[in-house]
Amino acid sequence: MKAVVYKGPFQVAVEEVEDPRIEHPNDVIVRITSTAICGSDLHMYEGRTAAEPGIVFGHENLGIVDQCGDGVTSIKKGDRVVMPFNVACGFCKNCAAGYTAFCLTVNPGFAGGAYGYVAMGPYRGGQAEYLRVPFADFNCTKLPPGTEHETDFVLLADIFPTGYHGCELANVSPGETVAVYGGGPVGQMAAYSALLRGASKVFVVDRVPERLQKAEQIGAIPINFEDSDPVEQIKAQTNGEGSDKGVDAVGYQAQSRQSGREEPAVVLNSLVQTVRPTGALGVPGLYVPADPGAPDEHAKQGMLLVAVGKLFEKGMRMGTGQTNVKRYINRLRDLIIEGRAKPSFVVSHELPLEQAPEAYEKFDKRIEGYTKVVLHPHA
Ligand SMILES: NC(=O)c1ccc[n+]([C@@H]2O[C@H](COP(=O)([O-])OP(=O)(O)OC[C@H]3O[C@@H](n4cnc5c(N)ncnc54)[C@H](O)[C@@H]3O)[C@@H](O)[C@H]2O)c1
Ligand SMILES: [Zn+2]
Ligand SMILES: [Zn+2]
Repeated sequence: MKAVVYKGPFQVAVEEVEDPRIEHPNDVIVRITSTAICGSDLHMYEGRTAAEPGIVFGHENLGIVDQCGDGVTSIKKGDRVVMPFNVACGFCKNCAAGYTAFCLTVNPGFAGGAYGYVAMGPYRGGQAEYLRVPFADFNCTKLPPGTEHETDFVLLADIFPTGYHGCELANVSPGETVAVYGGGPVGQMAAYSALLRGASKVFVVDRVPERLQKAEQIGAIPINFEDSDPVEQIKAQTNGEGSDKGVDAVGYQAQSRQSGREEPAVVLNSLVQTVRPTGALGVPGLYVPADPGAPDEHAKQGMLLVAVGKLFEKGMRMGTGQTNVKRYINRLRDLIIEGRAKPSFVVSHELPLEQAPEAYEKFDKRIEGYTKVVLHPHA
């Protein structure tokens, strides 16, 4: 079958790889109809992780069940399913408590697994014609048959739940004001989720014009951090107090307005200033325990200069980590089915699998309006 294979920094190719097969009675093989490219894929694409050439990318996958292992009970050939990006067992201590991003079974020595991702276990990605799904009864979420809402549903694998997770970590509640840093796909979904949860005012901070426009379209207030200090811009629109809650949807690749360079702690520090005393921060943006390409010695070891003193003084809370997609996916799916949510506004491009190399290049440069790309391997 064809798959998107990592060849080295800034290089992917669509190549023939071996077909996946049932390796365990609880596996299914899914024929992929939609698979999205994620900002997290770019960390590997840019060569800033330990990802080795040869890895097949793709952790945001949707398709039709093609083969079932003998032990699979709740799904059958022909079912339309979307897979949370977390590979999880469903029965370990963490899964049982709902923390499926920290499954203790699927990736020994490291809490949590994912498809097509460095250090997240031996699970091949789904930017391909077919995908093997382990513990399939747990890792497949059933969708209505047909092709309706295809582009909304594929976002259930990661970014819609991840934006929602940012709000959950910050406990965004009706009437509150929320500052979302990052207008990428995750930031858009965080802003959208904040509005779904009844926030009174949502700010989205970025500098990419198309991304700020998208935020405005859904009813958020765009804040261009190149115009002036975003902290001051948001304070000016929240009675000088700062917002009630904040979401970091940027992560360690944050760009500094002053220096124009990457400064991994800049968004965390902006949020400590932006959010009012006793507020809370949700941090779905990724931070890593090691980043050899980081600008200083501490950052190389995942240690950042964050204003913890100010965080304490203001009595703020902060929640972090990968999203436990399974925890939210059924409810978010049902919002889509009932017409109460339409996250696909964030998708800028739908392309055949063959165009993955071009899509990676443009999405990485954040040019030509590339905000979120969905690939269709069987178009
Ligand atoms: N927690 C999880 O499970 C999870 C899941 C998916 C993605 N992520 C992470 O979420 C983050 C965002 O993902 P994405 O796909 O939206 O990525 P993205 O790179 O497309 O978006 C990040 C945006 O942040 C903007 N930005 C950079 N510096 C900024 C600053 N100082 N202030 C405000 N905005 C700034 C960029 O212009 C860009 O538009 C990444 O770190 C990704 O790895 C986490
Ligand atoms: Zn993702
Ligand atoms: Zn588990």
